[in-house]
Amino acid sequence: HLQAHGPESGFSFDGPLGTWDIAQLQRGYKVYKEVCSACHSLNYVAFRDLADLGYSEEQVKAEAASWQVPGIDPNTGEATTRPGTDTDYFPSPYPNKVAAAAANNNAVPPDLSLMTKARHHGTDYVYSLLTGYTDPATFENDGKRLMEEFPEYATPEGLYFNPYFANLNLAMAPPLTSAGQVTFDDGKEATISQMSKDVAAFLTWTAEPKLIERKQTGWPVLVFLLFATVLAYFAKRQIWSSVK
Ligand code: HEM
Repeated sequence: HLQAHGPESGFSFDGPLGTWDIAQLQRGYKVYKEVCSACHSLNYVAFRDLADLGYSEEQVKAEAASWQVPGIDPNTGEATTRPGTDTDYFPSPYPNKVAAAAANNNAVPPDLSLMTKARHHGTDYVYSLLTGYTDPATFENDGKRLMEEFPEYATPEGLYFNPYFANLNLAMAPPLTSAGQVTFDDGKEATISQMSKDVAAFLTWTAEPKLIERKQTGWPVLVFLLFATVLAYFAKRQIWSSVK
């Protein structure tokens, strides 16, 4: 399968000086909410975590309340749903794995909280996977046509060809298929590439919310080490100054 690649412009959080693009994370959240959450959970993320994305306490509460989470009917004791509160975690779209598999040609859509960590070059991978669906009949790599190398090749019924997926065919139909599928609040044009990029960034944040803090911790450490080296050098000179 093909090596994942990110968008040409890269990501704002790339490199040692990288930082989140808060507007992008908000757009990516919207893509998750309106598209991916139909099939994928985000069980390790709580609504209160959205405060990191620049939402106020009221906005977080309102956002939480726009989701239905599992609850118990206080009168009958039966399982039901209720609007979320800020301390709830993002719910699963299916009651259990059997139901999830039944709805998706026997494949369970994985939880996406840690997906960008679970795959090599995960951020790029999510971007490549979402933008990489193609027709196997015309697919070629290194100048070789798949159908010429393997004339018997056929994508099984109910699966979709994607050269970035490890075994080439997956049970997820292309989720982002038309520009404008999501309407961004900041007016950004919602091309397939833009939506893919933004949701890949959002899923990078869910997997490592402290990514930027981690990178930024390195700088004071380096400055300190430099200072300690200079100090050690002069201390050595001082201590040995009387020895000819
Ligand atoms: C698998 C992302 C929308 C159904 C996956 C994987 C990722 C992903 C990263 C894992 C691939 C792997 O194992 O390496 C997304 C994103 C979505 C989205 C970012 C929104 C933009 C959907 C929707 C559905 C769906 C709407 C259902 C209609 C599945 C299924 C799998 C899967 C069934 C398992 C595929 C297999 O193992 O064959 N998705 N997904 N996804 N997704 Fe999605």
